[in-house]
Amino acid sequence: MKSIFPALIAAAITLLPNSALPNTQIEPSAFTAKSGEKLWNQTQTISGQVRSCASCHTSDPRQAGKHIRTGKPIKPMAPSANAERFVDPKKVSKWFKRNCKWTLGRECSEQEKADITSYLKSI
Ligand code: HEC
Repeated sequence: MKSIFPALIAAAITLLPNSALPNTQIEPSAFTAKSGEKLWNQTQTISGQVRSCASCHTSDPRQAGKHIRTGKPIKPMAPSANAERFVDPKKVSKWFKRNCKWTLGRECSEQEKADITSYLKSI
């Protein structure tokens, strides 16, 4: 009697989902950095003041920034310009929390934090 297994295996290979293709794993990260860039520059008015991440960190995070309330200089946010960024997870989470609240009026979601981190690391 002939086995039907070879035919079943062939069918299974044909039915493999497209997500197994390598290029579908590159594109989402590009979108992630794009969303991060958008959020970084997005302005909202809170307590009568227009705020964005760029207010203190500039819209080119490879440049040094300046605190809009205290006027104190802030070192560049992009790791390509400042190797001290994104090395201390405690510092990163503390400032994400504080700055998202101040800038957006709420905490950032995990997705938003990942988007911004990937944007800053991509430039
Ligand atoms: C009012 C000014 C101000 C605004 C607006 C602001 N930040 Fe910051 N941010 C700071 C200061 C001050 C620090 C800490 C000093 C330093 O690390 O240079 C900091 C540090 C950080 C860090 C720590 C990174 C590290 O590893 O050193 C992250 C992440 C960060 N900010 C993200 C954001 C995001 C995201 C936004 C917008 C939602 C934002 N910041 C808006 C002032 C600001």
